[in-house]
Amino acid sequence: MTALKPGVTKVAILGFGTVGSAVAKLLSAGYLPGLQLALVYNRDVARKRASAEARFAGPDVLWTDHFEDVLRSDADVIVELVGGGEPAGTWIEQALVAGKSVVTANKQLIAYRGPELARLAQANGVQLLHGAAVAGGVPVIPGMLQGLSGEAVTRVSGILNGTCNYILSRMERGDSYAEVLKDAQRLGYAESDPTADVGGFDARAKLCILARVAMHAELDPEQVPTQSIAAIDAIDFAYARELGCTIRQVSKAQQLSGDCMYARVAPMLVPLDSPMAWSQGTQNMVVSTGRFGGDVVFSGHGAGGNATAVAVVSDLLAVAQGARAVTLPVQPKGVTGDSVAPHYLRFIVDDKPGIVSAISGALSKVGANIDSLLQRRGYPKHRLPFVVTTEPTLNSIIAAAVDSIAAMDCMLEPPLALEMLVVDDKDEETA
Ligand SMILES: NC(=O)c1ccc[n+]([C@@H]2O[C@H](COP(=O)([O-])OP(=O)(O)OC[C@H]3O[C@@H](n4cnc5c(N)ncnc54)[C@H](OP(=O)(O)O)[C@@H]3O)[C@@H](O)[C@H]2O)c1
Repeated sequence: MTALKPGVTKVAILGFGTVGSAVAKLLSAGYLPGLQLALVYNRDVARKRASAEARFAGPDVLWTDHFEDVLRSDADVIVELVGGGEPAGTWIEQALVAGKSVVTANKQLIAYRGPELARLAQANGVQLLHGAAVAGGVPVIPGMLQGLSGEAVTRVSGILNGTCNYILSRMERGDSYAEVLKDAQRLGYAESDPTADVGGFDARAKLCILARVAMHAELDPEQVPTQSIAAIDAIDFAYARELGCTIRQVSKAQQLSGDCMYARVAPMLVPLDSPMAWSQGTQNMVVSTGRFGGDVVFSGHGAGGNATAVAVVSDLLAVAQGARAVTLPVQPKGVTGDSVAPHYLRFIVDDKPGIVSAISGALSKVGANIDSLLQRRGYPKHRLPFVVTTEPTLNSIIAAAVDSIAAMDCMLEPPLALEMLVVDDKDEETA
């Protein structure tokens, strides 16, 4: 891949929203040699042109709401910041076929269609970079592609969704899920429909991109199991603390022998002294574990216009200078979400004699051993929360036991089962 023609690289921004307008701001700040904003495309573009952020675009910028203008323009690089599968996917295809390089922050599109679009870019002699698609402003993707390409990465784990981290790190300080979610929506951290974030689907797309970049494994995002954080309650943080832990939405992918990989996104108990417990608010964190160099930690602001725009503009500079990322062959892999780990099980019961022995009977029936039983004082017997932790057991076995326990008359709410992350679980078996 050669650098674009010497001199000025002309940039077209598709989508003048949070990140698009921040990219325009950086391009107009005067510290980036050779990049020039030439065109802004957005639906109903007059509205955008009248916005306060329009001041970041120079007087010569073409504002349009016709995509054909983008293809016809002399822009060398298209920055796709519209988001979502379509029409962004078709627009990227058309731009690549038209010989324009593309920079995008679109995790869903790259998770589902990344390899196909990369092949199209290669066939047309242009570049497709997506450094902002995971962890926003934290350079995880370029760091892995370049700085860790010589490593045999065996596992990536981390906190990939800033909204969930904001919610859980606030709940850790005693706020309720409903109250914090409302604040997150008011502050613009969470969508009015928060399902993609709290349900783990946003993090799942990012985890699949990381599995591809770090471990050269192509996973189908639909096969990666997810667990929502919505069932977590303030009481779980109190019990987690007694166990020396807190709760985070953890995304984890790990190499297994054969053509299958472990991958899962779920709220988990993480030890208070682990890097994941330290990340607060909308911070993201990724830990890469390698066979030779051990752990490498990336952390910082995973979202926000400016932070994400830095990653986008870094990709723009790379394209402009013909910087070529290392590429290694990628293998399709099946997915299992099953792994052996200790589990935290929280029950809310109408207390009656024999409940604990019924629960321990259901667990021992599937071969799961209880490690500890915790019961905080001060709760009424007719609505009593208590916790059982298990010795390392397969998730699927715990799920089967929890299903049978959930059917007991005394259960006032579905039991909550969370994996307890072991800090250095290199040696934990995975199914
Ligand atoms: N925000 C972050 O912190 C962050 C971090 C990492 C990655 N990303 C990724 O960056 C991308 C952009 O995110 P964002 O937060 O900037 O989103 P955003 O604020 O919603 O901006 C999207 C822009 O695209 C426009 N748009 C949407 N659909 C369109 C269509 N069909 N035709 C024409 N214009 C359309 C929107 O116009 P309207 O105003 O008319 O809706 C809006 O101006 C997404 O892929 C996102 O996942 C964002």
